[in-house]
Amino acid sequence: MSILVTGGAGFIGSHTCLNLLESGYDVFVLDSFVNSSPESLARVKSICEKDKKPKRDLHVFKGDLRNASILKDIFTKANEINKKIDGVIHFAGLKSVKESVEKPILYWDANVGSTINLLNVMQSFDCSTIVFSSSATIYGRSSKTKLKENFKLKPINPYGSTKMVIEKLLNDLFVNYSGSWRVANLRYFNPIGAHESGLIGENPKGIPNNIFPFLTNVAAGNLEELRIFGKNWPTIDGTGERDYVHVMDLAEGHVKTLEFLINNGPQCLSMNLGTGKGTSVLQLLNIFEESNSLKIPHTFVERRSGDVARLVADNSLLKSLLNWYPKRTLNQMCKDGWRWQVNNPRGY
Ligand code: NAD
Ligand code: UD1
Repeated sequence: MSILVTGGAGFIGSHTCLNLLESGYDVFVLDSFVNSSPESLARVKSICEKDKKPKRDLHVFKGDLRNASILKDIFTKANEINKKIDGVIHFAGLKSVKESVEKPILYWDANVGSTINLLNVMQSFDCSTIVFSSSATIYGRSSKTKLKENFKLKPINPYGSTKMVIEKLLNDLFVNYSGSWRVANLRYFNPIGAHESGLIGENPKGIPNNIFPFLTNVAAGNLEELRIFGKNWPTIDGTGERDYVHVMDLAEGHVKTLEFLINNGPQCLSMNLGTGKGTSVLQLLNIFEESNSLKIPHTFVERRSGDVARLVADNSLLKSLLNWYPKRTLNQMCKDGWRWQVNNPRGY
């Protein structure tokens, strides 16, 4: 079977491509490399070669998802070599909350415009299975209880709005083209860590916004100290609480979701993808220090605008439907993420 992975060179995409290849799928990647490097996919290939798993093909195309002609070329090429694309995992998009507030049109174009283009081309090539990268950010608010999929959606920034509206668009396809579309919206919580080889990992451009790459850069001496955003949140120790999930568990969740859609017919699912366990900033810091025998300089600063106290997944739907369980601990996430940083001090 062949799968098109948009944004496959990125952080989550590269780990998922690896898992797809190891699970026996041929993979076609379309990526503009606006926020990534082709080197991530070269490394994916080299891990597959070392693993000596049955070899599948990885085809890489450079291009923007808003360009219909390159998408058509990929579907056509796949048909010509008898590898018709059976489904799409759609990661490509922009993900900085801060940038989305400054440039909302760019975000609607890059995230929503590109998805409309993708869906048009998929339809014309009779491909109607899609797994979409949504985000816990669409809930838009803190919750004392774990977030369930049927909670009200109320994104508070343009990035979150684009994710919510794409979910709605995909639901419209499912409802209005009866009996054809197979859709899964995966609402990720906080993916961190890296593949255990230390060859692929998260490679943000510039100063990281998210806590984990910030932490590894402080540990490496590239940044002076971790600034903890707020110490009076209504959480266990006053620092923000999140649901951190190992990127390889996340990747495996994608392959399981795809297989569920392929084996179970038309439907439209929205599922949380997290461990169901909350961890505060201070707890993460302690586990990182203990796992890697390091000390991280840190200081407390004001709350970050747009932040919330607690975001933790109720992941029972994914577990019961897909038999997916997070296998890797926070300790493992911290070790794997640090190994990636140490082995690749300047990224790819
Ligand atoms: P990433 O930036 O590492 O990967 C996105 C990839 O898409 C990059 O390789 C980038 O070059 C590519 N891309 C962007 N716009 C494109 C376009 N128009 N055409 C072709 N390629 C394009 O991000 P990631 O962390 O791997 O996230 C993947 C997806 O998951 C994104 O849609 C993101 O919004 C979503 N998500 C991420 C997180 C997270 O914490 N990392 C959380 C929730 C949701
Ligand atoms: C952020 C985005 C969210 C997006 C997600 C994944 C905001 C407000 N939210 O979520 O929309 O889906 O990234 O890309 O930007 N923290 C620090 N110091 C730091 C960085 C973070 O204390 O330097 C804290 C935060 O306050 C938070 C926790 O660490 O409590 C996690 O932050 P982060 O990694 O940015 O993820 P989210 O806030 O969940």
